[in-house]
Amino acid sequence: MKIQQLNDCLAEVNQALSDFLPEQDDPMREVMAYSLANGGKRVRPFLTLAFCELCGGKRETALPFAAAVEYVHTYSLIHDDLPCMDDDDMRRGQPSSHIRFGEANALLGGDALLTRAFGILVSAELPPSLLVRAVDALSLYAGTEGMIGGQVLDLAGEGQKQTVSDLKKTDAGKTAALIKCACVLGCIAADASWEQIEAAENFADNLGIAFQIQDDILDVTSDSATLGKPVGSDEKNEKSTYVSLLGLDGARKEEQRYTENALRSLDIFGQEADVLRRFASGLSNRLS
Ligand code: IPE
Ligand code: IPE
Ligand code: MG
Ligand code: MG
Ligand code: MG
Repeated sequence: MKIQQLNDCLAEVNQALSDFLPEQDDPMREVMAYSLANGGKRVRPFLTLAFCELCGGKRETALPFAAAVEYVHTYSLIHDDLPCMDDDDMRRGQPSSHIRFGEANALLGGDALLTRAFGILVSAELPPSLLVRAVDALSLYAGTEGMIGGQVLDLAGEGQKQTVSDLKKTDAGKTAALIKCACVLGCIAADASWEQIEAAENFADNLGIAFQIQDDILDVTSDSATLGKPVGSDEKNEKSTYVSLLGLDGARKEEQRYTENALRSLDIFGQEADVLRRFASGLSNRLS
């Protein structure tokens, strides 16, 4: 059965996230499991599985890749909430890792998720040449040229006058890079053509920015019970966002423009990509 919506693979993803945890008696297992727990939207694993199927692969093959990218994403959230970063005390509907386990364990729990992600990646039943490409992609997109680089810019920008072009650079790193990683890993698992990979990258570059703009909008318009994380975090930290620079209406328009660009990037796939079209449109209208 091919996935038509996120729900079709949610149980498989959640099972994989749990299966890849360390042994029961491992001191970090509880810390890792706590932050991975339900409450995350599983956007990135879904993208990995959907691109794998779209490019002709079997989604079971891509499940370790999907889990690995969610491990890295979850680590990034634990560290993002630390007092030295956004200092937020709630995540995925529960106290943040450092509130529950203390700062040192939260730091190490994040490190453990990141480190394990690479082991999970290479457990996929794929030819070594594809596994090497997957490791290369994850280290690139999660690293200083990707997510970490974006987080550095995000923190450096606090209290500073930022332009829309500064923000785009920040968001391309802190958010779009891992979304791109998720899409590219799905393509690698299916040994997709370069043309397919290029389309997936284009889709992700645009979806990633749209996703962060919507995240910034919800930080202003939503409430913490709906979001599962604090609202007003960006203002508290004097961060520039699309909302602070362009206003709510301006931010919404930009978000739509990026979503439309993302949708256009799927043209080469024809109707087969309808599942991704619906998903991207759903993210654009999401409330959490
Ligand atoms: C939150 O990501 C951090 C951003 C990059 C905006 P998600 O909105 O995907 O968070 P979860 O995984 O659903 O908790
Ligand atoms: C976080 O962006 C991006 C990463 C964790 C890499 P935000 O700081 O806006 O994410 P939230 O709003 O805390 O989820
Ligand atoms: Mg942040
Ligand atoms: Mg944050
Ligand atoms: Mg945010």
